[in-house]
Amino acid sequence: MTRVAVSAAAGTYSVVIGDHTIESLASEMAAAKLGARRLIVSSQRVWDFHGSRFRKAGADRTPILVEDGERYKNLNTVARLLDAFVKEKADRSTVVIAVGGGVIGDMVGFAAATYLRGIPVVHVPTTLLAQVDSAIGGKTGVNHPLGKNLIGAFHAPSLVVADPVVLETLPRREFRAGLYEVIKYGVISDPTLLDRMRDTMPAIFAREGDAIAPLVSASCRIKAQVVSADEREAGLRRILNFGHTVGHALEAVTKYKQFRHGEAIGYGMLAALAIGVARGVTPKALYDEVEALITQLGPLPSVADISAKEVYAAIGRDKKVVAGTLHFIAATERGKTIELTDVTEKEIKAAAKKIGLRA
Ligand SMILES: NC(=O)c1ccc[n+]([C@@H]2O[C@H](COP(=O)([O-])OP(=O)(O)OC[C@H]3O[C@@H](n4cnc5c(N)ncnc54)[C@H](O)[C@@H]3O)[C@@H](O)[C@H]2O)c1
Ligand SMILES: [Zn+2]
Repeated sequence: MTRVAVSAAAGTYSVVIGDHTIESLASEMAAAKLGARRLIVSSQRVWDFHGSRFRKAGADRTPILVEDGERYKNLNTVARLLDAFVKEKADRSTVVIAVGGGVIGDMVGFAAATYLRGIPVVHVPTTLLAQVDSAIGGKTGVNHPLGKNLIGAFHAPSLVVADPVVLETLPRREFRAGLYEVIKYGVISDPTLLDRMRDTMPAIFAREGDAIAPLVSASCRIKAQVVSADEREAGLRRILNFGHTVGHALEAVTKYKQFRHGEAIGYGMLAALAIGVARGVTPKALYDEVEALITQLGPLPSVADISAKEVYAAIGRDKKVVAGTLHFIAATERGKTIELTDVTEKEIKAAAKKIGLRA
């Protein structure tokens, strides 16, 4: 078991990572002095697979079940959650436990941030993406019909319990989608992750605990370090956006239907590396290494029908453009990045074409 501390404005919380850690949820909550009243929120699918593990953990009541999947990540579902909290007479001593992927985590976190102006939330992430990324850092929120994650709040969790055993039931495509974010951590911070992935790929795909738990804990450690230093994304936290400029644009122009988030980030990382290589800040060997690893993970959905022009236009509408300036993260060597604020339209379009988009 690995324990990582995250410091947030609201206090420090633990991320507990390891096989079967769900079984210590009750004792971890007690150790964190979290109240006796507990409400679990999950989705039918996740609860059917893993609900029984929580009974062992001391959860004796039926959970609040909402739909997951991106199209349900909206204010309607949050309203249903808030209704349920009211009906259950949740008060400031009530702890809400979010059991699910990033969609459940983001919605439950947001509902907890707003109910009574904030009640504690515990995350039990059940997708690889949620374990290595969304459960840590306190970003919560929902989509607006006109844009993803436009409505939200910072609300740090009081505890995160990441148990890789639950990943056994994750559909292969969802599992792979999380692995692209692990590659990201390798590129921006810990190159041994790249080596480990390359060398243990068959065991990773066989979901062997010994292969997966180290990836999850190394990734959590990096995310924890970064958000501890920069909770509100004033600077350092932006390194987590490596691959996300082009990646988010690909998701937006395909209306979030063609790619899982991680798949779009796979392309986005290649585009970011291509821009760096073209500028002479990124070694070509790093581009080749990441490309080989991404290829090893299997084919990505095609981008051949997407134009570089529309992707560039979508980048202009992105939240990462602050006061007209695009903060672009490029890699300078394995595990090191630099922020560029002068990346041009021409460079982005050239990189987009390099990764397979049409003009
Ligand atoms: N808050 C943050 O910092 C942050 C960071 C990254 C991503 N996100 C958000 O996370 C969301 C994506 O999360 P996601 O990729 O986890 O998707 P998701 O929550 O939609 O889950 C994907 C699918 O996997 C299923 N599932 C979940 N756990 C399972 C399990 N153990 N076994 C079998 N099936 C399981 C779900 O039912 C769902 O159908 C996006 O909305 C994104 O914006 C947030
Ligand atoms: Zn991401």
